Amino acid sequence: MARTLSMPQARGEIARDIQTAAEPTLVAQAAEFAEAVLDGLARKQRSIPSRFLYDEAGSALFEEITKLDEYYPTRTEIVLLRAFGREIAARVGPVETLVEFGSGSSRKTRLLIEALDGLKTYVPIDVSETFLAEAAEGLEADFAHLSVRPVVGDFTKTRDLNGTDAHRPLGFFSGSTIGNLTHDEAEGFLRNAAQLLGEGSTFLIGVDLQKDLDILLPAYDDARGVTASFSLNLLTRVNRELDGDFNTERFAHRALYNAEAGRIEIYLESLLDQTVHVCGQRFGFAKGERIHTENSHKYTIEGFQNLARRGGWEPMQVWTDDADLFCLHLLRRA
Ligand code: SAH
Ligand code: AVI
Repeated sequence: MARTLSMPQARGEIARDIQTAAEPTLVAQAAEFAEAVLDGLARKQRSIPSRFLYDEAGSALFEEITKLDEYYPTRTEIVLLRAFGREIAARVGPVETLVEFGSGSSRKTRLLIEALDGLKTYVPIDVSETFLAEAAEGLEADFAHLSVRPVVGDFTKTRDLNGTDAHRPLGFFSGSTIGNLTHDEAEGFLRNAAQLLGEGSTFLIGVDLQKDLDILLPAYDDARGVTASFSLNLLTRVNRELDGDFNTERFAHRALYNAEAGRIEIYLESLLDQTVHVCGQRFGFAKGERIHTENSHKYTIEGFQNLARRGGWEPMQVWTDDADLFCLHLLRRA
């Protein structure tokens, strides 16, 4: 379900707008969260979809993750955007509209906006409403020529761009957030994006590369425990929004590498036999039982290009860093 924020506005006005204009949507979002959690906890392999990790506290914790020594993806993608921003802009050609999926703080987007001469409109799409509003406001303040038209919603289901008349836009999906989708989900996402962005569009996607486990595992289980707090915050969110009684000290963050699937899998593991309630329903957990909260797929360059083709996009060029940690794929709509 998508909804739009109009800009420019002061922060307070944005908040008022959302509350007054979109009350039924907020109710629908709460119902969607309740349904996903109750359904996920009732499964044999318990699970909660990763998009629910990003409430206000979760988004702030993710920003902290991006600054950790162990978490190489953000700083490497920034190096790539700084080094190749102009080259990317030249390959893309003249573009007036930039559409970003899972924009978060839009920190990296600034580098792309600076590289793209003639950009007029930026459409960030994200489920994390307060983060989206703050990022949009900051960008409008810093780039006077830019009209920012945020869309609050699930980027796998976005059907329109806040009324933006986008002619041959550039899509941007940074951070390897595409890796949080399964291969099938990613293919569906790419097909939807091809439809949304339309004929003649191009798409820049940041993708994490397969690599040694001694680099990969600490990135998802850092020494300070910030990633653990990010995961456990999901239970805090369930407690607050769904009348839950999870004791976060009785669950532990676990990050494992599934070699067959080529992905990090993140779980919350029960440290003892216990009973938990959510929305008045009772869930028994045995010691060691896990809730799956996230996948983070790692790709080879060819593996991602094949996925892109299946999703309706033609590879144009790939840029990687010297250590082959991360890459940027530029695609054109097939
Ligand atoms: N692009 C930024 C943020 C990555 S974190 C970066 O590279 O640093 C992932 C972002 O995607 C978060 O802001 C989160 O709120 C958003 N997100 C995750 N799943 C989503 C979904 N299904 N629909 C819309 N936004 C989603
Ligand atoms: C947003 N996404 C690409 C992050 C990742 O690396 O998969 C989410 C994350 N989860 C734990 N650490 C980072």
